[in-house]
Amino acid sequence: MDNMRFNTIAGWTLFAFIALLGISIVTDEVFLPEKPEKQAYVVEGVVEEAAATDAAPAEAEKPIAFYLASASAEKGEAVFKKCGACHNADKGGANGIGPNLYGIVGSAHAERAGFAYSEALTAMKGKPWSWDELNAWLKSPKTYAAGTKMAFAGIAKPEDRAAVLVWLNSKSDKPLPLPAAPAEEAAAPPADAATAGNDAAAGNEAAAGNEAEAEPAAK
Ligand code: HEC
Repeated sequence: MDNMRFNTIAGWTLFAFIALLGISIVTDEVFLPEKPEKQAYVVEGVVEEAAATDAAPAEAEKPIAFYLASASAEKGEAVFKKCGACHNADKGGANGIGPNLYGIVGSAHAERAGFAYSEALTAMKGKPWSWDELNAWLKSPKTYAAGTKMAFAGIAKPEDRAAVLVWLNSKSDKPLPLPAAPAEEAAAPPADAATAGNDAAAGNEAAAGNEAEAEPAAK
C-alpha cells in the first residue's frame, strides 16, 4: 500500500513538473510575440516626433530684426570669413574683388570710392543700406539685384545673416541702433496695431509684412 501511495505521489509530482514545463513553453510563445507589438507603439511615437521636427523649417522666416536681437558679433566675425576672399571691413581698407565694407550698414548702395560697380548695383546708387535691404541682399544677391557681379550664393540661415550684419555694424564710425521690431513681433496682434498706429506709414507697412508672414506659419 505504502509503495503504491509513493508511486502515486511520485507520479503526480512528475506530472506537475511536466505541466509546469509545458506552461512555461506555452507562455513564452504567448508573450514573446507581444514584445514587437509594444515596440511598434514606440515607433509610432518616434514618427510623430519626426513630423513635428519636419514642420519647423517650413515656418516662415521672421523679420531680420527678430534675429538681430539675439545675434552675436563674435559669430558674425566667423561668418564674415565667407566674404573675406572679396571684402575687408577695415577702416580705410582697400577695395578688393568687392568694395571695402567699413561703415556699410546704414550707408548707401554703390557709393564706395574707386570701385567699379555692376550696372545692377549702380542702378540702386544712393539707396540706403538698411538692415532689411542688407538682409535681402545677403540672402540672395542675385535675387536682390539681378546681374550683380557679387558671385556669392547667399547665406541661407537668417541667424547667420543677422550675426554678420551685427558684426559689420560694429565696423563703423557711427553704428546703427538695432531695430526695435522684435518686441512687436512677439507681442499680441492688438499691441502690434497700437504701435503701428503711432508710427509713420513705414511702420504700418512693416506690421502688414509681419502679418503676411505669420499666416503661412500658422498652417
Ligand atoms: C566672390 C566675391 C564676393 C564674396 C564672397 C562676397 N562679395 Fe560682396 N560684393 C562682391 C562684389 C564684386 C560686389 C559689387 C557687386 C556689384 O557691383 O554688383 C559686392 C558688393 C557687396 C555689397 C554692396 C556694397 C556697396 O557698396 O553697395 C555688400 C554690402 C556686400 N558685398 C557684402 C558681402 C558680404 C557680407 C559677404 C559675405 C557674406 C559678401 N559680400 C561676399 C564680391 C563678393
